Amino acid sequence: MKPFLKWAGNKYKIVERIKALLPSGQRLVEPFVGSGALFLNTEYPRYLLTDANADLITLYQHLQVEGETFIEYCRPLFTPENNDKDRYYALRDEFNSTDDSRRKSAIFLYMNKHGYNGLCRYNMQGGFNVPFGRYKRPYFPEKEMLYFHQKSQNAIFQHADFRVTMESCAMGDVVYCDPPYVPLSNTANFTSYSSGGFGWEEQKMLATLAQSLSARGIPVLVSNHNTDFVQDIYSVASITEFDVQRYISCDGENRSKAAELLALFS
Ligand SMILES: C[S@@+](CC[C@H](N)C(=O)[O-])C[C@H]1O[C@@H](n2cnc3c(N)ncnc32)[C@H](O)[C@@H]1O
Repeated sequence: MKPFLKWAGNKYKIVERIKALLPSGQRLVEPFVGSGALFLNTEYPRYLLTDANADLITLYQHLQVEGETFIEYCRPLFTPENNDKDRYYALRDEFNSTDDSRRKSAIFLYMNKHGYNGLCRYNMQGGFNVPFGRYKRPYFPEKEMLYFHQKSQNAIFQHADFRVTMESCAMGDVVYCDPPYVPLSNTANFTSYSSGGFGWEEQKMLATLAQSLSARGIPVLVSNHNTDFVQDIYSVASITEFDVQRYISCDGENRSKAAELLALFS
């Protein structure tokens, strides 16, 4: 099943590759859950799904608890009248000022489907600042949301930094880490998914934590771009290299193959 959100760096296309390397266990832990592509396509008895993006986690919590009631609450935002630049910016302003978490989650979903390229980006003050996307008929992902709701009954969603989540892991857990990609060149800026950045130090810290969890008998699989830096920080892991077809420009026409890898600390 496809995730119901568009999400930069989502792993839907390589779920089978990830599953082929992922050990079995009592609980799958995803410290960078994003759109949850792996969660939705695996069968672990339990899940701990966390992310540093609080808006994302709050949306999941509403869907988990309320199911169809929440889906019906979101539906009226997906009308032809709301597929309009002025309406989009009015709803974005409402999102950035309201304290009503249910309303905020519904608008977050609306902006994910009506905003530019499904991006999720915030300004320095923490305000969502993605421009209008100009789609013909944005898709209301009812069926995908219902599936997510059903699947989430044995999951826990938490807003947390990856360090906190990884330090909380115990025997029987299997961890899949999908951090923001390292840049392909040293000069490129890091992609910033939530208002906090994720730089070289965080990448190194993740590798260190993965190694120490595996030393305690908790396997950790990590994905990233295949660069010299990544090969270096994951050098104690067992590495699988492959290419992924990705859109690299905004017009959607420019495709290229990006070299990626999966590193298993076990
Ligand atoms: C590549 S995406 C994960 C994509 C996900 N595997 C999927 O299939 O959609 C990386 C995620 O890391 C999250 N993130 C960024 N910094 C983080 C941090 N310090 N701790 C936890 N999550 C973080 C972002 O919000 C984003 O959702």
